Amino acid sequence: MLKVLLTSQDISAGIDQLAAEITAHYAEKDLTIIGVMTGSIILLSDLIRRLDRRMRVGLIQARSYQGENTTAGHLQVNADMLPEVEGTHVLLLDDIFDSGQTLSELVNRFQKLGATSVRTAVLLRKDRPRDVTLTADHVVFDIGNHFVVGYGLDYNDEYRNLPHIAILPTQDFPS
Ligand code: IMP
Ligand code: MG
Repeated sequence: MLKVLLTSQDISAGIDQLAAEITAHYAEKDLTIIGVMTGSIILLSDLIRRLDRRMRVGLIQARSYQGENTTAGHLQVNADMLPEVEGTHVLLLDDIFDSGQTLSELVNRFQKLGATSVRTAVLLRKDRPRDVTLTADHVVFDIGNHFVVGYGLDYNDEYRNLPHIAILPTQDFPS
């Protein structure tokens, strides 16, 4: 049974606020927003339509676990769809800040690619201890340490199409 944590109205109001923060922070700067696939695709499409300014949009794919695993392993990155980012301000957009490994590794990678600045924005941040020093620059919602699905977030690539965010109870994970 899925329990709704954030309704589509909650999410929409949160993204209005995120768009306002990004607009204020970057002002006239040369901005490239990079969505981390696959979980950020719905967030990316909703966010960029609220940003009335010049900017580039790109995608990178990162996966830290596959299939029915719900704990992170080695990060696989596919940067084939990435635009040129050297000399631009990069904002990495991801669905959730869990261990922080994904965004830590990606921030490093974009710094090496010569971005002028690299910052991060996430829809959700889990309340849990972390080994990484990185903290997300923009967080729309702080949540408990639950496994959540919907609005782009998946379990085994299912549930991404839910318009809201729901908690997937641990008894629903195959053991
Ligand atoms: P991190 O590297 O541990 O911060 O995890 C980042 C990635 O793990 C996210 O981009 C998600 O794809 C995935 N992830 C972490 N927690 C959840 C969750 O509760 N539901 C679905 N995916 C999650
Ligand atoms: Mg995922």
